Amino acid sequence: MAIREVRTEGDPVLRKECKPVKEMNDRLIELIDDMFDTMYAANGVGLAGPQVGILKQLCVIDCGMEEPEPLVLINPVVTPLDGIQTGEEGCLSVPGYQGIVTRVEHIKVNFLNEDMEECELEADGLLSRCIQHETDHLHGILYTDKVEGGLTKVTAEGEDAE
Ligand code: NI
Repeated sequence: MAIREVRTEGDPVLRKECKPVKEMNDRLIELIDDMFDTMYAANGVGLAGPQVGILKQLCVIDCGMEEPEPLVLINPVVTPLDGIQTGEEGCLSVPGYQGIVTRVEHIKVNFLNEDMEECELEADGLLSRCIQHETDHLHGILYTDKVEGGLTKVTAEGEDAE
């Protein structure tokens, strides 16, 4: 268990295409553990491989729901189903900012879990948004590419909003 350095916007690793994971091994199990530790330590709800410098199609998600979270998504493929949602989004790789992003409301995602079993999940609301955001990371896309009306500075808790 360890907390890894989170790469921030401007680091070229965030703009690369990730390779599919072919097999689970001890290093990947350790990576997944570290990604959860890193995400929770930063109060995030999702973290993708490139954000810790690993160009593999792997992300972890915990939006604070019950089942099916916490989620490990390996080689995820998102299929839009219906609807749209517009809401605020932030990213651990773009610290101190948030912005409005429109995404699909209802999606299906096919992925492998940490046991490399094929899984399918339907999601809407925050979980759907989070899955779309993290899957974008695996293809070099940041939410800042999709933001409407620019980024808003977020003030850390306990500080004056200036
Ligand atoms: Ni992000």
